[in-house]
Amino acid sequence: MTIQRIGIMTGGGDCPGLNPVIRGAVLKARSLGWEVLGIEDATNGLIDLDYRSPKGNRWLGPDDVRGIISKGGTILGTSNKSDPFNYVVTVDGVKKEIDVSDRVIANYHKLKLDGLISIGGDGSMRIAQKLIDKGMNIIGVPKTIDQDIGCTDYTFGFNTAVQTATDAIDRLHDTAESHDRIMVVELMGRNAGWITLHAALAGAAHVCLIPEIPYRIEPILEKILERQARGNPYSIIAIAEGAHPVAGTQSTEGPRALGQMPRLLGAGHRLAATLEPHLEMEVRVVVLGHLQRGGTPTQFDRILGTRFGSAAVEAMRIGKWGHMVALRTPDIVLVPIADAIAEPHFVPPNHSLVRAARDVGIGFGDDEPR
Ligand code: F6P
Repeated sequence: MTIQRIGIMTGGGDCPGLNPVIRGAVLKARSLGWEVLGIEDATNGLIDLDYRSPKGNRWLGPDDVRGIISKGGTILGTSNKSDPFNYVVTVDGVKKEIDVSDRVIANYHKLKLDGLISIGGDGSMRIAQKLIDKGMNIIGVPKTIDQDIGCTDYTFGFNTAVQTATDAIDRLHDTAESHDRIMVVELMGRNAGWITLHAALAGAAHVCLIPEIPYRIEPILEKILERQARGNPYSIIAIAEGAHPVAGTQSTEGPRALGQMPRLLGAGHRLAATLEPHLEMEVRVVVLGHLQRGGTPTQFDRILGTRFGSAAVEAMRIGKWGHMVALRTPDIVLVPIADAIAEPHFVPPNHSLVRAARDVGIGFGDDEPR
């Protein structure tokens, strides 16, 4: 098949490295003489061809991607509320979900696209797979700070998020030690503890609580009191937003609007409220939140993003529709999107990084395996 025109879009939560992917794909595609249409705000630009927020779909060339390698966010905009199979509309004042996927397919043909690069997390890859099943030519590019997509060593965005979280923990050491306080830092990651595990190791936190290892309060108190007894009356606890006690569920903000996932919020405050009555030390909480999603991408994410972008175009050139680019260090490989979404990528409780953390005395709020 001869390719003349492709589309590219970014879906789900933004993360550092999206712009390097767009740049890598545009530069490679243009070098092959292809036209590249940037689709605005994920599938919104395909659901409605007149969609403008703020710019709408537009042609991309080298001038449009100049200087964006160091910029966080995405020049194309993104959305996590544009699933065409469950698209929320308001009819007579009532919100309901409808399937507008046929409209997406029709618009894709109307735009005369030969293929589409979908850059997104697990949700976007699931949508991509359903559109592939309906006949669209799609190549996936895995993005997420959470690092929870299978079949790739790393997703881009993760490295930058871990650096941001590590910087925060470094700063918290200074203030916690000065005030003899317990500082609890709540980090993102949804149901995966990768950001927290890496940042706890890199930032030398004393306790690391992740969703994959439900915690009890007693081992955490023991760790804090043991440090106090050794003359260190302060501790840093890194807790993932999805972490929860053994006998408890994740902390969420409560019910959300139709079609929206529950927001994880409150894990750090819940832990602090449980710990404080047992301690003479003050327990304070920092929720790092969306700071982990912004900022200039690290060199790792810039390079990975650039490689993913150009590899996605190469995958199109050789007709590998339905595949996702992935890092299998040191190579970029292609894996079926279906395989990548089959199993989420969570921290195995006996992972070598968990063992490394335990070896240097980081507690996980559980009974340490002997
Ligand atoms: O998936 C990325 C992520 O930042 C998660 O770590 C977090 O739980 C979620 O998105 C927050 O999403 P939103 O910005 O839509 O609230």
